[in-house]
Amino acid sequence: MAAAARPGVWITFEGGDGAGKTTQATLLEEWVRAQGRETLRTREPGGTEVGVLVRDIVLYHRGEVAPRAEALLYAADRAQHVATLVRPALARGEVVIQDRYLDSSVAYQGAGRVLDAGEIRDLSLWATEGALPDLTVLLDLDPAAARERLDADDKPFDRLEAEEADFHARVRESFLGLAAAEPERFLVLDAARPAADLAAAVQARLAALL
Ligand code: TYD
Repeated sequence: MAAAARPGVWITFEGGDGAGKTTQATLLEEWVRAQGRETLRTREPGGTEVGVLVRDIVLYHRGEVAPRAEALLYAADRAQHVATLVRPALARGEVVIQDRYLDSSVAYQGAGRVLDAGEIRDLSLWATEGALPDLTVLLDLDPAAARERLDADDKPFDRLEAEEADFHARVRESFLGLAAAEPERFLVLDAARPAADLAAAVQARLAALL
């Protein structure tokens, strides 16, 4: 479904672990509701019942998960999510506010696991019949600063968060490259800025789409 052909608006948040995506998604949902629009707040992996099962494997399975298996699991979660939740909400005219989408697969499975970035993107586009968001906010943060935030959080690390610094540096560079390649879809923000400033910047960009 091309962006122009659907009544809803779809916004995704991307960035490394600890960049503040959840905080910004929450602030944006409050603002969108105050504009009188219905919202769907969701995430990948895990936005659907099937997705919750997939999330459990990709984040918490204790044994080895081969990189291509991991890529397919995220793609399966995405296929189910777009078909059963996101597309219907967009067709109803809702504003879909989503934590992570296919750019995460390109960054984590492509750059992080060192699979071919183009193949990973194509896999997600096949899974979703080519669905792309209207706006993607990249919350960019130095991985060392992100790690400090995660350490302060006291939550046990999942399989991806537990990867070494080099992995997270590759993920960050990949996100920045994706944003540079599609400037009309992406808004890149320095996630070290105060949350209220970031929220205002997101609102200003989204206002034109509502
Ligand atoms: P997230 O839900 O942001 O984690 P948390 O619950 O800790 O906030 O994302 C879970 C992890 O999955 C995160 O480390 C990034 C990773 N991920 C991928 O590797 N590929 C993907 O396609 C997606 C959507 C997430």
